[in-house]
This record gives sequence, structure tokens and C-alpha cells, in this order.
Amino acid sequence: MNATVAVGRPDTRLEGADKVTGAARYAVEYPVRNVAYAQVVQSTVVRGEITAVHTDAALAVGGVLAVLHHGNAPRVAAGVDAELYRLQEPTVHYRGQIVAVVVAESSEAAREAARLVRLDYDEQPYRTELSAQDPELYQPAHINPSLPTDVVAGDVDAGFAAAEIQLDLLYRTPSYHNSPLEPHASTAQWHDGHLLVHDSDQGSASVRDILARLFELPPEAVRVVNTHVGGGFGGKQYCKVQTALAALAARQVDRPVRLALTRQQMFGPVGYRTPTIQRVRLGADRDGRITTVVHDSVTQTSTVTEFAEQVAVYTRNMYAAANRRTTHRLARLDVPTPFWMRAPGHTPGSFALESALDELALACQVDPVELRLRNDTMIDPESGKPFTSRNLAACLHDGARRFGWADRNPTPRSEQGGRWLYGTGMAGSCYPARARPATASAAGYADGTFEVRINAADIGTGARTALWQVAADTLGVPSERVRIQVGDTALPRAELAGGSTGLASWSWAVVRACERLCDRLAELRGGVPAEGLLVEASTHEEVAAQATLPRYAYGAQFAEVRVDGETGEVRVRRLLGVFAVGRVVNPTTLRSQLIGGMTMGLSMALHEAGLFDVRYGTWANHDLASYHVSSNADVPAVEAYWVPDEDAQLNPVGVKGAGEIGIVGTAAAIANAVHHATGVRVRELPITLDKLL
Ligand code: MOS
Repeated sequence: MNATVAVGRPDTRLEGADKVTGAARYAVEYPVRNVAYAQVVQSTVVRGEITAVHTDAALAVGGVLAVLHHGNAPRVAAGVDAELYRLQEPTVHYRGQIVAVVVAESSEAAREAARLVRLDYDEQPYRTELSAQDPELYQPAHINPSLPTDVVAGDVDAGFAAAEIQLDLLYRTPSYHNSPLEPHASTAQWHDGHLLVHDSDQGSASVRDILARLFELPPEAVRVVNTHVGGGFGGKQYCKVQTALAALAARQVDRPVRLALTRQQMFGPVGYRTPTIQRVRLGADRDGRITTVVHDSVTQTSTVTEFAEQVAVYTRNMYAAANRRTTHRLARLDVPTPFWMRAPGHTPGSFALESALDELALACQVDPVELRLRNDTMIDPESGKPFTSRNLAACLHDGARRFGWADRNPTPRSEQGGRWLYGTGMAGSCYPARARPATASAAGYADGTFEVRINAADIGTGARTALWQVAADTLGVPSERVRIQVGDTALPRAELAGGSTGLASWSWAVVRACERLCDRLAELRGGVPAEGLLVEASTHEEVAAQATLPRYAYGAQFAEVRVDGETGEVRVRRLLGVFAVGRVVNPTTLRSQLIGGMTMGLSMALHEAGLFDVRYGTWANHDLASYHVSSNADVPAVEAYWVPDEDAQLNPVGVKGAGEIGIVGTAAAIANAVHHATGVRVRELPITLDKLL
């Protein structure tokens, strides 16, 4: 790269003013002539067959254009994604499954009519309760994204039996719901056999591919635009059901159709984080050196399609141990299919392992920070290869110093003031630093300006701004002379904002395209043709060459809580995280990602829980009034810092991705602090007051 001027600068988002003035358009906000509105109808039984659909009352509502159901909807291809195969068959696989779609002239008419659609069902018995004793638990062929189900090294039985300290602990986490601010929403329009969709998703290229297969079109006949996306947290990866149904409805009524799920409808049919049951066994010597670690997990999937959350994967790479086993078992239940949610696997898995390490620290009487340092390793325990970089120790040291950890009295329940009990706790953090191939183009113009194009997705992270900074530095020009376009399948192909791969993947292609343009301009000795000069570059080969290196971002999280000794009320007073996430492109947007993740982790520790009623096969809470997320008064002080983290084996910019690591370990740090305050160990989230009294 040329002289750095933009990378490292705390720029505010390029689209910030558009967003706060309402000029930025989201999926159902584009003005579209003759647009109609769709509203979905959900099944009221858990499992069965639809025997009749009564639509007369709905069709009698003024302005209603159609009621689509399995008996009359256009056909789509089978075998693409079973959760998108809706209105194609009478089968109900879970309560809340979308079984009909009403289309009307207004959203109000559609909503009123949807209420009047009646279905008869032939109900069948169902199973919805997750249990580690379920005799039908099974071992999937692999876990997400395509990892081995079980990994075993050494002799865990002998290692555990021989260990001086033995811990055998059971942790549970409930289901969680992504529920981003913008709901799952799409506007679909057909023109001459071409499909145009304005969509709220985390990557329009995969949405385009799936729609093309679903409607049996060549990919170039489908365009998906996601210029602005109001959050996703994993729940908008790939094509979701509302996109497919908007396209289906638009085809049926031969008009553009808008479909935005309501907040309530987002609790189920578009995915959620599976509940988990995790058994962790730690064997260690008296100095806290782990000799044996066993992490066995049980989660759920649906009968529709398999989703196997990689819960114990965190334990495969985080700390050293000679004897290791991680396993995943699944229950196939009559429930909606679980899906990705921020730091899938690592979030629930780190709650269990980092809580267990705190229990080990107490059992060995070793300081929790020191315990993690003693079990640190520069060699990936799973692959046996050296990590490309691992600055966990730096995060632990820096975090302890900033937090004031050294002053801590390790004895639980040792600090009280009035009715309040005070405590501190900490945990490690880690998330893979991966990249996916991408293509970008760069254009230079005679007026001295440049334009960079890549189908990246900015789901609110600031990705667009960071890429613009990278482009300016690579081109060696002031950023004011650079324009950037993202969020449209008409742009060069890139993959989704997910798995913390976005900035690493996209900036790699942007750098290569800008370098190529600089080379071409140098050949032309600065004489840009009147029509401009456009080049494109792809990273497929470079990315593939580095795919097998063990590359991770790390962190250390510290929490201070106070607990009301009389009521059990828990308040987090302070959260502090220090992270090693590679090179920092934009400190403002990086900090936002980190404190956002930590806040979500606080929410997981104290507030969030899908209250699943196994009798009715659905959640009792399915809106943001009853599904509690932490709000301003719950989050008094969240601090995020980072340490230098050079890694020449990552990508040209040296970024590791920071979208997910902020939530990894946070809940454990808080649970550990609650234990320190009260002496009560809560192994089942959330930490509600009833568990402390
Ligand atoms: Mo993240 S759950 O990979 O969008």
C-alpha cells in the first residue's frame, strides 16, 4: 500500500447523514409504482396436514387481491432450501410455519385479511422438548459450517481419572432471537421474466443464487439490492422466507409486492439460536494446568432441515490440554429450524468453557487471569500448527491492568456495601479470522476521481466506510476523490457479511483492484482516457492458498457487578474488553462492533431468553416487550480497547474481523462476577434473581 492516510482514521459512516435524515432507503421503502402489500399467516398447530383453507372472509376485505396457499400458489423448485419450500405442500412442520400469504392494496387491508384466513388441520403428535436424555439424539454427519462432529485426542477417560482436580459441570442456555431493528423485509418485482428484489439480507449474491434456483431462472435474470440493511446478527444470511414469498406473491398478482414480517413473526420462521445443554469436564493439576478437557453438547434442529450449531468448537482451539474431546449431538424436534446468530457456536460454547475455567481457578486457588495464561498455547491444539498470531496474553495483561484486577480479593462474597454485594469476573474470547474469495472493480476518471465497486453488504457495521478508507490508501489519493458502491448483485461478486469475514474478504479484493488500477495508470503515465479506465481483480487463488492456516482473533473480557443481597437483582456496573483483531481500519466502527457485541453478551447473561412452551410448541414471548433485551439503563459503562496485533499471514490489510468476538465470553465474565459477588454459581442462563436467592 501507499502512504497511509485514511486507514486508522476514525471516520464516521459515509451514509450516516442519509440514515439519520431518512434519505437512506431500506428494503420496503423504495418508491415502487403499483406496489401491493403482503402479510403472512402462520400455522396454529405444531404438526399436521392442512385439510382446508377458508379464504372467503379474507377475500371479502376491501382491496384484497389474493390469498396464496399450498392449493393455489405458483410452484417453486424443490430441494433448494426446505425452509423456503412454503405454500407448496399441506404439511405443517412446526407452529408458526407460514401457511398462507395475503396480498392487498394496503398493508392494513392485508393485515386485516390475514387475520380472517381460517385453516383446518389434521393434527399429529409432536415432540418439542430438548433433553440430554432424549433417546433419539443423533450424531450429524458434520456441524456448521462443515466441521467434524466429534474431535478426540489423547485418552480423556484416563486423563480425567488421573487428574488431581476434577470438575464435571452442566451448563444450559435458552434459545435466543436475533430480532434486528429492521425486520426481515423484501420488495419483489417481475419485469419481462426478470426478478428485481430490494431485500434486507447479509449478502445479496447468495440470495440471488437461491432465488434463481427456486424460480428456475439463470442468475443473470435476478438482481438483488441491499444498499442499506438495518441489522441482521446472522439472521439474514442467505435467502430467507419473506424474500421467496414476496417473489412468489408478485408473480401471482403480477404486481410488485412488499413483504415485511412483523416483529412477532420474526420469532421462529426466520431462525433463532438453538438452546444448548453442555457438559464440561476439566481435569487439571493443582497449579491449574489443564490435562483433560471434555465438552459434550446437545442442541436442537427441526424436521425441516438440519442445522447443527458448532457449540463445542470454541474448546477445540482455545486452551492447551493433552487429552481432549468435543462432541455434538442433535435432537430433531417439531420446531422452527435454528439458524445463525452472532458468533454461532462460540457464544454458548464460551459461556460454558469460560465459566468452567472460573470454577477451576477457584478449585486450584489460582487467579483466573493467571489460570488462562498458564493454559495459553501458541500451537493450535486441534491442528498442531502454530497460530498465525495469538495475542491472548497481551489482551489478558492489558485488560487486567486497565480494569484494576490486581486489587481484587479472590474470596467470593468478600465485598459488601449496604444491601449490595460486589464482584468482578473475567473470561477469554476468541473467534476465527477467516476470509472468502471476492471480486472488486476500480475505475479511474480524467477528473482525478475514482470509483470502487464490490457487492459487499453493509448491515450497519460501517463496512462501506472502511472499504472506502482502504481504497483511498491503496490508490494513494485523498479519500474525498474516491466513491464506493456496495450492496447490489449488479456489482462485482462478493460473499456475505457473516462469520466476521466481511472486511477481511472485501478489503482484500479492493486492495487488489486498486493496485491493478494503479499499475495500469502508471503504464499510461497518468493519461486517463476520457471515458475512464476500469479494472477488476479477484482473490480466489490467494484466499484458497491461506485457507488452512489457524487464524484467530482474541480477547479478554472483564466485568464488575453488584447484586442486591435481598432481592437478587443483578446490575452490571462495568464491562471492559481488550481485543486483538489485527489491523484497525476505523477505530470508530471497530469500537461500535466490539461494544455492540459486549452489550449483546450482557443481554444474554441477564435478560434474553426464549421462553419456549413445550406444550404449545412455541415461545410464550415473541416481541420486544416480553423478550427482554438490555436497554440503556442496564448498560452503564462498556469499554473496548485493542492491542497491536500484526499478522502478515492474514490478508493485505491485516484485518481479522470484529463483528462477533465482542459477544464471545461476555456472559461468562458476568456469570463469574456474579459468583464472586454472591458465592452462587449460575450455570443456566439468564442469571435472573430467582437463581440467586
Ligand atoms: Mo454472523 S452469525 O456469522 O452473521
